[in-house]
This record gives sequence, C-alpha cells and structure tokens, in this order.
Amino acid sequence: MPYLHRNPSCESRSSSRSKGTVTAVVGSLAVGLALVMMNSAFSSDRTEVMVAASEFAPGGQAAEGARIIASKPCGACHTIPGVPGAQATIGPNLAGVASRTKIAGGAVDNRGPNDLKAWIMNPGGLKPGTAMPNLGLSDDEATKIVAFLVTLK
Ligand code: HEC
Repeated sequence: MPYLHRNPSCESRSSSRSKGTVTAVVGSLAVGLALVMMNSAFSSDRTEVMVAASEFAPGGQAAEGARIIASKPCGACHTIPGVPGAQATIGPNLAGVASRTKIAGGAVDNRGPNDLKAWIMNPGGLKPGTAMPNLGLSDDEATKIVAFLVTLK
C-alpha cells in the first residue's frame, strides 16, 4: 500500500477522476435548470410563446396587437401568421399584408400603418359593400393591431 501512495500516476488518476465527477454533476445541474426554465416558458399562455418566438418585445405594441387579434373574431375570417387558431379563408390571408400597396381587392391604398388602421376601423367606409364588418375597435386597439400587422411583411 505505501507503494501506491508514492505512485504519482495513481494520484493524478484519482484526482482527475474526482474532477470529472464534479464536472458531470455541475453539467447535469445546468441541463436540469435549462429544462425547468424551458418548461415554464412553454407552459405559459400560447400567445406569449408565439410572441417570444416572433421576437416581439414582450408587452410591446406588436405583442399587444397579436393578443388583441386573438381576442377578436379576426381569426374566424383570416389566416394570420403568428396568431394561434387563425386559419380561416373567408377574408384574405394576412401574411405579407404590410407589403401590399393595395388591399381589399385593390380598392383601398395601403401606404402604411395609417391606411391599415383606417381600414380595420371602418372597412365599409373605405369600400362600401365589403364583406369585412366594422368590429367596433377602439383607436387604441386598432393602433396596437396595426403595430402587429406591419410586421407581416
Ligand atoms: C366576417 C369576416 C371578417 C372578420 C371578422 C374580419 N375580417 Fe378582415 N377582411 C375580411 C374580408 C372579406 C376582407 C376582404 C375585403 C374586401 O376585399 O372587400 C378583409 C380584409 C382585411 C384586410 C386587408 C387585407 C387585404 O389584403 O385585402 C385586413 C388588414 C384585415 N381584413 C384585418 C382584419 C382584422 C385585424 C380583423 C379583426 C379585428 C378582421 N380583419 C376581421 C373579412 C373579415
């Protein structure tokens, strides 16, 4: 036994083994923590997960707009990327709406956020007889919805 104690290779082997164990323990703790954090992120409200995935600042206007859209009947008529459950085809798909220079079948100019806002607040006023109803949005709701719509390029 004294021989073993004097053997440097034996010493270094045993110390590197214990370092390895410490590294493994710390490593699995980190993985466990990451899993716990992911789990709590994904178990929260679906809209928040979508918003995180879409790189909107949480609580920002675009994120709020997406949340408001999800609470209105927009998704009963439109497919809207990033809004869970909005997959209808009665109205146009809103994917790319911010890049269109005309909306409502070419009847209405879309030169930017103000035009989109005017449209969603009063579709029939801009295109009499349109199938999109007036949803009674408040000015604030419309501003936030448009902050989201302009991200659909
Ligand atoms: C009852 C069905 C219906 C609902 C509800 C509805 N829309 Fe529409 N929407 C339409 C139709 C139909 C059009 C196309 C109108 C046209 O061409 O005259 C349209 C057009 C649009 C357009 C222009 C898109 C384009 O390319 O022409 C936007 C933007 C839009 N809707 C946003 C919304 C938002 C936001 C909501 C919810 C606040 C909403 N819509 C709710 C039916 C609906």
